[in-house]
Amino acid sequence: MNVCVVGSGGREHALAVALGRTAGVVVTPGSPGIPGSVATPPEEVDADLYVIGPETPLVDGLADRLRAAGRLVFGPGADGARLEGSKAWMKEVLQEAGVPTAAYGAFTDVDPALAFLRTLPGPWVVKTDGLAAGKGVLVTDSFDEAAADVVAKLSGQAFGDAGRRVVIEEWLDGPELSLLCVCDGRTAVALAPAQDFKRLADGDAGPNTGGMGAYSPVPFVGPDIVDEVLEQSVKPTLASLRARGVDYRGVLYAGLMLTSAGPKMLEYNVRFGDPEAQVVLPRYAGDLAQLLAEAAGGRIESEPAFDDRAAVTVVLAAEGYPLHPRTGDVIEGLDKADGLPGVTVFRAGVARRGDEWVTAGGRVLNVTGMGDDVAGARATAYEAVSAISWPGMQYRTDIAQRVHSGS
Ligand code: AMP
Ligand code: GLY
Repeated sequence: MNVCVVGSGGREHALAVALGRTAGVVVTPGSPGIPGSVATPPEEVDADLYVIGPETPLVDGLADRLRAAGRLVFGPGADGARLEGSKAWMKEVLQEAGVPTAAYGAFTDVDPALAFLRTLPGPWVVKTDGLAAGKGVLVTDSFDEAAADVVAKLSGQAFGDAGRRVVIEEWLDGPELSLLCVCDGRTAVALAPAQDFKRLADGDAGPNTGGMGAYSPVPFVGPDIVDEVLEQSVKPTLASLRARGVDYRGVLYAGLMLTSAGPKMLEYNVRFGDPEAQVVLPRYAGDLAQLLAEAAGGRIESEPAFDDRAAVTVVLAAEGYPLHPRTGDVIEGLDKADGLPGVTVFRAGVARRGDEWVTAGGRVLNVTGMGDDVAGARATAYEAVSAISWPGMQYRTDIAQRVHSGS
């Protein structure tokens, strides 16, 4: 089978490596750091299966265009991708499907939004409705900060049009879990659970980011929790989507809070998590291309299978990330780190300048270590991290350190 992966970051690099174990792979547009990268647009690539990585082309209808041309595509159409494109719509679908989730209100006007905010006890959670690359969410103990954020978002000052509608939510407490579910339109199978570290700095300090690291498996999450989420949340969501005429074939990424009252859905994403894919996919022990092709064709028959070993990934980010990442810094030690046993360095945002690797994005490298358990994988990943450097490189030193409580 020949697979075309669409995208250019660390997630797509991880997809290419995992798919490449059983299939031929090209990545478009890819990057100088990802083997098999081609400049040809996906519509012009001849492949048996198309796997679309990022949310933006999904929301823009790339899967629909490829399907209209008769291609086999893993990734939802624009109708299903709206789950990520509009948090207000996602909450509507969750409620209709009876999925446990935080109470909320959606607003376009400041006065009712502030009135609703005042009814909540805090901490306060304010989200932009539209796509904001994981950066549109404010969780704060300060009512004044939350109120100012509502005003900034609704005025379009923050996040432009993506922010002109806000979702204000009940605050939930507990460890978070990312469960990537492969869907064929009717049913779903779960991949191994992962935990993501969203805040920029150690101890969960600093702003939210796209994700600063992840690990899998999550020792305190057994098959019972995974089944509960599949049965209570993911399958009812697929049924609800079907009733709306949406045939959802792709990843439904369940972002969950494991509260004392059970798992609650924080959000759905419509793609593999980044950097969750960089710990889940290296552990995949079956034929990933086969599984995704089955889902794309409308009937999953394979059972996902995972290596017992653990994976930990540490994101190395550029100076200024997440707001104003600086690019063009020379990266030292990349090839050496990549050559260490049990290590893969996924290229998230790098470019080639002469013989050198330089930074070319906010999240630059994802250093994944494998080990017999999470602690071993963590040690391997951080040993490789210590071999890499560039001016202003940022990373967390506490990824997967407290596996019981997570991020
Ligand atoms: P989201 O992009 O919706 O997943 O939100 C980003 C992060 O904000 C989540 O991973 C949580 O850490 C936090 N968050 C979002 N919604 C809530 C909530 N209702 N209660 C507590 N924390 C939340
Ligand atoms: N790691 C969070 C995300 O992919 O949205």
